[in-house]
Formats: sequence, structure tokens, C-alpha cells
Amino acid sequence: MGVIINCKHLRLFLFLLWAILALSCKDNTVAVQEPEPSSEYTPLRSVAPFPVGVALQSNRLSSGPHSQVVRTVFSSVTAEYEMKMRHLTDPSGNYVWGPTDALVAFAKEYDMQVHGHTLVWHQSTPSWLENFSGTDAEFEDAVEDYITNVVGRYKDDVVSWDVINEAFEDGSGALRNSVFRRRMGPDYIARLFQYARNADPDVLLFYNDYGTIWDAAKRDAMFSMIDDLQTRGIPIDGIGLQMHITYNTPSLNNIVAVMDAIVQRGLLIHISEMDVRVNPQGDLSELTTGRSELQKQRVKDIVMAFMDLPEANQFAITWWGLRDPESWLIDFWGNPEWGLLFDAEYRPKPAYDGFLEALTEN
Ligand code: XIL
Repeated sequence: MGVIINCKHLRLFLFLLWAILALSCKDNTVAVQEPEPSSEYTPLRSVAPFPVGVALQSNRLSSGPHSQVVRTVFSSVTAEYEMKMRHLTDPSGNYVWGPTDALVAFAKEYDMQVHGHTLVWHQSTPSWLENFSGTDAEFEDAVEDYITNVVGRYKDDVVSWDVINEAFEDGSGALRNSVFRRRMGPDYIARLFQYARNADPDVLLFYNDYGTIWDAAKRDAMFSMIDDLQTRGIPIDGIGLQMHITYNTPSLNNIVAVMDAIVQRGLLIHISEMDVRVNPQGDLSELTTGRSELQKQRVKDIVMAFMDLPEANQFAITWWGLRDPESWLIDFWGNPEWGLLFDAEYRPKPAYDGFLEALTEN
């Protein structure tokens, strides 16, 4: 009997110990939680006449401050990577919907539109397609099925898709020799657009790329493709200009010239994937006031140029991330960077004021 009572006590003691540990861990989580965002600034979505977007990762939605700033400030979201092929399917080709479903549900709850990025991208080809063992015709059927399933699933929630991302080589403008190009032939882009249109007659279809402002060969290749698609009646609605730029390049004139050429073709313009590097030479170890002001002016100039476009051609401006320390730029370039609108503490930077000033002074 004595032993039984001791065991009971021991169990009670262990339970209490577990409860105390569990509670104190929870408290710790609260203690190290990210800073609360300030609400003392004007949200972009409340003044912008066009959607202002941000790239998002579904795991960041569990951070209260992160999701609060996103839903307060922005009116559109794009998955930073979770809607890419290698993430929407596992290596065997089974669909992985969870993260994208969560992003889409979040957007719906807070009345934000979703821009889909990206149906096809040579850098996110899953192994089941890269090593596809069937015939070329079966490969194409698999790609068509994928597009039909993905576009179909989000038909009511995704307003626009990047059908293909970065199809042309730097410098030469040649079609990249991706598995899609190899298996489906040189006219594969037209068929991707057609498959996307078949899956959703209303969704807006974009071609998205970087370097089309400063790389003449790539730019010519893109416009030849657009002209060809339009001549043949292949559905294309807009062009995404990946705005990964620096505080001083490329020139505003060159950006405007490319936007004008898109307007001449009657297409929508998406200033997509925006970030403005302030440390391209790696000379800064912290963000200086001077560089921050130059970044602000750059953002202001670009937003003003976008607002000068005919309204019918303004699709959206999308930032490639929320806070500086979360940006892909840091890993990609290997320098400290502060390319986004918010600092680590969720404080809007001067660049944010630049965006606002362009919206309100125009
Ligand atoms: C990047 C994301 O930011 C990273 O999180 C991911 O690991 C790799 O892709 N051009 C594009 C984007 O079209 O999809 C890329 O995003 C950045 C460059």
C-alpha cells in the first residue's frame, strides 16, 4: 500500500513538473516573440488605387506581428516559393497542397488577392519531371495535367498566374534548354499558356522575368515571343518585370521605356518581385541614412512611373518579402542587405514613405 501511495505521489509530482515546464516554455516563447508592429502609419492598401503585394511564406503566418503587418499594409499576396512546382509536388509527383491552401485561406480571410507564382520555372523542376521516363507526349500530358490541376484548384481564389518564369538566357536571349524546352520543343511556351487558359478562362496569364530592362538580347527575345503569341491568338494578359534593382541601376528612363513597349502591346504590367539593394558593392555593414534616402527616392520614382501608365495597364506592384532580414537577397548576394520596406522591428523605412508619397502626391 505504502508503495502504491508513493507511486501516486511520484506520478502527481511528475505531472506537476511537466505542467510547470510546459508553461514556462510557453512563457519563453511569448518572451522571445517578435516586436509588436506600430500602427502609426498609413497602410499602402488604404491609399493605392492598384493592388500592392508581398511575397509570403506560410510558416510566417503563425507570427502574429508578421501576419498583422501583411494583412494591414498589403492587398495582394504571392507565395515566395510554395506555389512552385517543386513545392506543390513531392519527388514522386504527389501533390502537396497544405502550405498553399493556408496562404490562399489567409488571403481570403483578409480580403487580399492572390498572384500565383509560378506554374513553370526551370529552377523549380521536380525530380519526377526532370527524370520523367515516359515518351515526350506523356511528358507533355503530365505537364498539362499539372497545370490543369493547380490552376483548377485555385480557380476561384487566384486572380493571376505567372505561367512561365525566366524562359530566356542572360546575354543571348536564347530559350533556356530546360527539360520543358527539350521535351516539348521550341514552341512549348505557347502551349503552356494555352493549357493555363483551358484550365481557367478568367485567370490573368503573365510572363515573368528579370533583366529585361538591362539585357537587350533578353528583352528582344521577350518582345519577339509576345508578338508571336499575340499574332497567333495565344492568350497572354501581362508581363511581370522582376524589379530586383539597386539604388542606382538601372535608370528610370530604361524602366519606363520597357513599360511603354508593354503598354503598346496592350498588356498589363506587373512590377513583380520588387526589392532595392542598397549594398551592391558590399561597402556597408549597416544601413546608412544616405543610402536609405536614395532607396526611398528610387521607390518613389518607380511608383510614380507606374502611376503614370494608363490605368488599364497597371496590374500591381509586388514586394519580394516584408522585412529586411527575411529577404532572399542576403543569401543570394552574400552581402548584408536592406532591400525591403520594413526593418527587422516591423518599422516602415524611408522607402515606405517614398511609396506613400508617390501615392499621395500624384
Ligand atoms: C526565390 C525565393 O525568394 C527563395 O525563397 C527561393 O528559395 C528561391 O526563389 N526570381 C524569382 C523568384 O522568380 O521565384 C525567386 O525567389 C527570386 C528570383
